[in-house]
Order: sequence, then structure tokens, then C-alpha cells
Amino acid sequence: MFRPVVALVALTLSSAVWSAEQCSVDIHGTDQMTYDLKTITVPKSCKTFTVNLLHPGTLPKNVMGHNWVLAKQEDMKEVIDDGAKAGEANDYIQPGDKRVLAHTRLIGGGEKDSTTITTATLKAGDHYAFFCSYPFHSTMMTGTLTVGG
Ligand code: CU
Repeated sequence: MFRPVVALVALTLSSAVWSAEQCSVDIHGTDQMTYDLKTITVPKSCKTFTVNLLHPGTLPKNVMGHNWVLAKQEDMKEVIDDGAKAGEANDYIQPGDKRVLAHTRLIGGGEKDSTTITTATLKAGDHYAFFCSYPFHSTMMTGTLTVGG
């Protein structure tokens, strides 16, 4: 007799959790030089969107460091080239680079870092590139971020 009420409460709770989770995503950068996501969709309803980068590996950041960098597709190559010149001391990102829309710091195995994007700074329907700017990693570690409906 009480079962329908319990089911309704459970449904309400799970949908509340779900809508909160939609405004963030976890992405893993591994010892195998991969991300576990190739696409990220930011719901338009999110004012901000948080990307949590986790490194489940064991290699240190000077060997297998990863970051998560967001830029327009057409800026990706130059951001990476200038990041390589800036070096590990700058997390392979040129300080003050305006083409970088968001980024985490460079992390090694067992570490994590997050970055939060203000959704209004991104254009709906545009395709943005995310990538690791550690030298040569973007050949494997890259994907597309889109602002969805
Ligand atoms: Cu990397």
C-alpha cells in the first residue's frame, strides 16, 4: 500500500541528482595517454559548467602529465605550439593566452583538478576543441565540446 509513495519519492530524488550532475563532467587522463571522452555536451540550461580532470594513473606529471584545455578549433594548434614554448613551469600554457577559454593545471597520476566555464561565453552550436597541451599528447588526447539545447 505504501509502495507507490516510496517509488515517487525515489523518482523525485534521482531526477534532482541527475539535473545537478548535468552541469559538470568527469574526464580521465590516463597513463596510456588517452582521455576517456571524445565529446562533451554542455546543456544550455547550465549557467556554469565544471570539468573535473582526473588522472587515475601512476606516472608523474613530468613523464605523463595531463591538463584539459578549451579553445576554438582554429586556435588549437597555435595554443599548443605556444604552450610548448611556455614549458612545464607554465603547465604548457602561454601565460595570459586569450585564446584559452578554460584550462586545468597540469596533473600527474593520482591527482585531479577542475575548471569551470561560464556557459554564456560559448556560442550554442559552435564546436570547440578540448585537448591536453603536454607536448604531442593532443595527437591522442583531443575531443569536441559543444553547447547543446
Ligand atoms: Cu597529456
